[in-house]
Amino acid sequence: MKNLKLILVVGARPNFMKIAPLILAIRNQRKILESGNFRINYRLVHTGQHYDLRMSDAFFQELAIPEPDYNLGVGSGTHAAQTAEIMVRFEKVCLEEKPGWVVVVGDVNSTMACTLVASKLEIKVAHIEAGLRSFDRTMPEEINRLVTDALADLLLTPSQDADRNLLREGVPQKKIRRVGNIMIDTLKINLQKARELRPYEQYGLEEKKYVFVTLHRPSNVDAKESLRQIMQNLTGLSQKLPVIFPLHPRTEKNLEQFNLLPERGRYPNLKLCKPVGYFESIGLADKARFVLTDSGGLQEETTFLKVPCLTLRPNTERPVTVTIGTNKLTSIKTLKKDISQLLEGSDHRGKVPPLWDGRTSERILKVLAEKSVGR
Ligand code: UD1
Repeated sequence: MKNLKLILVVGARPNFMKIAPLILAIRNQRKILESGNFRINYRLVHTGQHYDLRMSDAFFQELAIPEPDYNLGVGSGTHAAQTAEIMVRFEKVCLEEKPGWVVVVGDVNSTMACTLVASKLEIKVAHIEAGLRSFDRTMPEEINRLVTDALADLLLTPSQDADRNLLREGVPQKKIRRVGNIMIDTLKINLQKARELRPYEQYGLEEKKYVFVTLHRPSNVDAKESLRQIMQNLTGLSQKLPVIFPLHPRTEKNLEQFNLLPERGRYPNLKLCKPVGYFESIGLADKARFVLTDSGGLQEETTFLKVPCLTLRPNTERPVTVTIGTNKLTSIKTLKKDISQLLEGSDHRGKVPPLWDGRTSERILKVLAEKSVGR
């Protein structure tokens, strides 16, 4: 019997829903893989980039992700400090475990840091969600994507545009495999449960009669003036349709620091709350009149759910959500007009992109098995 050991890396909130279905597929490998004399096992490493109960633990519980075998506990810091700390601690894990592959997901600092470590130790790296590009190097995630994809040995892409980006950068075709969108695996598994929860009711909201907002990107929330204008738009919107806005720690900290939190009771229909868990987030998105966000994941989830989405960013690394799905880019300047249009009901119904079918983790497992045979 041949054994293949993987190290699966998670670090920040958007990673958890991408690793959960892969773990499930590994558990069901007998049904997925044809060869019976091949066994995949894994170690789960949490870098600790996100550590709050609401940013991390809640997702492990809801998505039934097992306790990590290693928690590196790096916590917050500047980009350099956080990346360096992850690298030092992850190197020890790799030396101890000697895995066949390190599997990283998405575009957070943990993704890039662990890729760098594995590459230098000559351990193969598989990147799930490879090839996405915003072509905006002011975004820390774009730097993480470029470095990760330059080094990874296997680039598992969600869509055709991602393949094209990689080929344009000179990545050989044989390293690229289009497997689809793994987040949709998690969404399909949990949608029923999220719907049954009806999370909007606890905020006194009714189906399709509220707007779901999430904003946390440095470009939107780190400067006082842009955050002030965002809040002005939201208070205005809340007088027409209730708004539910769970606050990422970064956003909450900045609202407090810039003194932009509305007086208690002044805008009762602008409901600010702590970060919500996975089921709640999906349940809120699913029944929203529309979603306003700067998250990467919500652009995709709303496309799958066919809920209109306004993305407060000048660009997106997920263009299929705009060309095929329900997403539209907006800016602080156009926000008011775009919101009015949606309130009037002029949204376009999108389609679900190919391979966003809930079977991506199966395909990934097959590719990993195929690449490892004969090692
Ligand atoms: C990170 C990712 C971003 C992802 C986002 C989702 C990078 C470069 N960015 O951004 O792509 O969309 O996660 O949330 O990796 N904090 C807490 N508790 C936590 C985590 C963070 O209070 O559990 C606070 C800290 O004050 C920290 C700040 O949030 O300094 C930012 O956290 P950090 O992990 O640096 O980046 P995010 O903005 O969360």
